[in-house]
Amino acid sequence: MATIRGKPVALVTGGGSGIGRATAVRFAELGYSCVVADVDEPSAKETLRMLQTPGIAVQVDVTMATSVEAMVTATVQHFGRIDCAFNCAGVEAISERIEDTPEEEFDRVMGVNAKGVWLCLKYEIAQMLQQEPVMSDPANWADKPDVCRFRGVRGSIVNASSILGLGPPQHGANASYCASKFAVQGLTQTAAVEYAKEGIRVNAVCPGLTATPLMDRYLEKAPPGTKEKAVSMYPVGRIAAPEEVAKAVCWLCSDACPFTTGEHLKIAGGY
Ligand SMILES: NC(=O)c1ccc[n+]([C@@H]2O[C@H](COP(=O)([O-])OP(=O)(O)OC[C@H]3O[C@@H](n4cnc5c(N)ncnc54)[C@H](O)[C@@H]3O)[C@@H](O)[C@H]2O)c1
Repeated sequence: MATIRGKPVALVTGGGSGIGRATAVRFAELGYSCVVADVDEPSAKETLRMLQTPGIAVQVDVTMATSVEAMVTATVQHFGRIDCAFNCAGVEAISERIEDTPEEEFDRVMGVNAKGVWLCLKYEIAQMLQQEPVMSDPANWADKPDVCRFRGVRGSIVNASSILGLGPPQHGANASYCASKFAVQGLTQTAAVEYAKEGIRVNAVCPGLTATPLMDRYLEKAPPGTKEKAVSMYPVGRIAAPEEVAKAVCWLCSDACPFTTGEHLKIAGGY
């Protein structure tokens, strides 16, 4: 039996900085209750203070199953359900060629960016499967019984991939990061197919270079001229603001695209 949507609940990992923070702020502007989760608890609390709607800050390490499970439990204990999740926690890699990259660096990047997304999917989906499907506005679909049959929505998940999840970097070496974001694409598309009939949508965003602390750290360690080379590849002639990615994430989570799942949305100024 489907229920009518009340105030929706959004969970954002990596919510203490950059794209995750901008997305939590955007969710709150749209009226969602927010769970801001980050390994850096003070930064998650700082984001929480920026929100217009009720929320909680949760400390999570997305590389640890027990921590991710506890994050989902805290969300459900506080708000009763998870309507949307943005799995945004991520780390940059050192910009070195494969033969120079230490094994631990590959494991670190894959641990957060790939395994972290898998663990979040695992526990978020397990929760969403227990939730009553939501019908946002049945009146809009009353004359379309074939469509109506598929209108029960349990939840919508967006994963943070990258343009480097779609192809190799054209400037500088970045194999570990690139591999981790290809993994996010595989996880997104597989989860979308596995749970489509159960009313859970799973999509990915693929941002280009976006002005965040992660980008600053990456460029600091990259060879001189990397930023100029990178920016020259964007037809719009600039990099993105995190708020531009946030709006796309919230759109993918929303009822505006109920038939969209397993997709990746490039947000990259024509790259
Ligand atoms: N900035 C860009 O140019 C860009 C481009 C494409 C994709 N992305 C992706 O977008 C996502 C967000 O990046 P950002 O630029 O906002 O970075 P950011 O560094 O500003 O924010 C990332 C957040 O993730 C948190 N985090 C790191 N490891 C964690 C862990 N183990 N558990 C929980 N939280 C953890 C950090 O504390 C931080 O608050 C990442 O997945 C990144 O790969 C960024």
